[in-house]
Amino acid sequence: MSIWKRKPLALLLAEAADSEKGLKRTLTAWSLVALGIGAIIGAGLFVRTATAAAQSAGPSVTIAFVVAAIGCALAGLCYAELSSSIPISGSAYTYTYATMGEFLAWIIGWDLILEYAVGAATVGIAWSEYLNNLLTNVLHVDPIPFAYCHSPFQTSLTGEHGIINLPALFIVAVISLLLIKGIHESAVVNGIIVVVKVLIVILIIVLGWHFINPANHTPYIPPTDVFTDEHGVGHAYGGIMGILGAAGTVFFAFIGFDAVSTAAQETINPKKNMPIGILGSLAVCTVLYILFGHVLTGLEPVEFFRTSGKEASVANAIIHAMGESYNWLAQFVTVAILAGFSSVILVMLLGQSRVFYSMGKDGLLPKAFSDLHSKYKTPYKANLAILVIVGAFAAFIPGDIVGDMTSIGTLFAFVLVCISVIILRKKEPNMVREFKTPLVPFVPLLGVFVCCAMMYGLGWTNWLRLFVWMALGIVFYFAYGKKNSVLNKTKE
Ligand code: ALA
Repeated sequence: MSIWKRKPLALLLAEAADSEKGLKRTLTAWSLVALGIGAIIGAGLFVRTATAAAQSAGPSVTIAFVVAAIGCALAGLCYAELSSSIPISGSAYTYTYATMGEFLAWIIGWDLILEYAVGAATVGIAWSEYLNNLLTNVLHVDPIPFAYCHSPFQTSLTGEHGIINLPALFIVAVISLLLIKGIHESAVVNGIIVVVKVLIVILIIVLGWHFINPANHTPYIPPTDVFTDEHGVGHAYGGIMGILGAAGTVFFAFIGFDAVSTAAQETINPKKNMPIGILGSLAVCTVLYILFGHVLTGLEPVEFFRTSGKEASVANAIIHAMGESYNWLAQFVTVAILAGFSSVILVMLLGQSRVFYSMGKDGLLPKAFSDLHSKYKTPYKANLAILVIVGAFAAFIPGDIVGDMTSIGTLFAFVLVCISVIILRKKEPNMVREFKTPLVPFVPLLGVFVCCAMMYGLGWTNWLRLFVWMALGIVFYFAYGKKNSVLNKTKE
């Protein structure tokens, strides 16, 4: 049995056509763009931007957004080609199965757990930060005690220790149950949230612009230094390395546009609508992010984001820099962000369940993951398994750590996707491609280069985490996936 066996394209396309038995096709181009923005604007913007400024780049976090956007656009063009020619559930996992064989498909499927599941946990933790902000600044009641809304690896400025992050666990559980009920209802709720989310970003940019203190932007690119975080890990601060590190961190804010491609099997006319969904949502967000980063870092100095403004950073910066008369904005932002984060978690959990669904169908994960609910037609067993995994990360690991793990895992997936485009052009030159990545192999290679540069910027602790995670995955593959692979069984 070869571990390099590729899933035949004809089989993939037949599976896509077989939608009678599979998932329902309900999504249009607009619902995809909404799904994309729903996944994109979230904790990356409202939490990781301040972290990136504090730990790596200061105000030059805006340049980091540009670097991250370039990497995403290049990878996005590759995603668009693959998702328009292989319109089937499973995202990068499926593409890799067709192009580079089972073993690498497994690697990427395993890696996507970092993107979707660990990413959902990251946003769940951010949700927990803003929930406390809601309790204190909007409802004016006592916050949840530190111990019950932080991981055991965190200590407060006053020396309290975390035990478990209960609100993060709660939101992940609620959304998992919503997803089991069905994608259509979820997409409608998501549409409303997207509008509100874009609105608050625009409001912060427009109203906050007048409160930018030029002193906070001077120097725009801080001189090279090292910042040591609360876990004792050193981060390159300032200069080019600072920008690259910040790009790796805020890259999180772009994650999600590729999650659109995981819904290909539920999309009407995916060949046309997929590229619109992926690139359209990416374009809108990039412009908003750069402006938002500029305003946020202008409101407060970096020291603020390292100390009292570390959590719920945007609401805190508004209250601190814009004064009492803008309390309503901080309150509106808090409420909207809680809803906004929920929609991000929804799309990430959706993406993850579809990857598990595909892997379960292929036999690389337990078959039960591809069982559809008799009434709701959703892969409910996959959703429940994911609830356990994501819940554990959300409850017990700090947000900064899961955030950077998500970034590095996703960057790695992007690199493999870019390479897939080049390989597939050679191996399947005649395949129908509704959307073609321009300037192959230049665009995919540049995509690989920019994504690798961001991975480099994330530093050795994250390389190590990625390495350990992938090593675990390889053990799992040889112990389970290889033996149970449907493709290997049917051909032998
Ligand atoms: N891009 C998503 C966010 O920022 C994952 O929350």
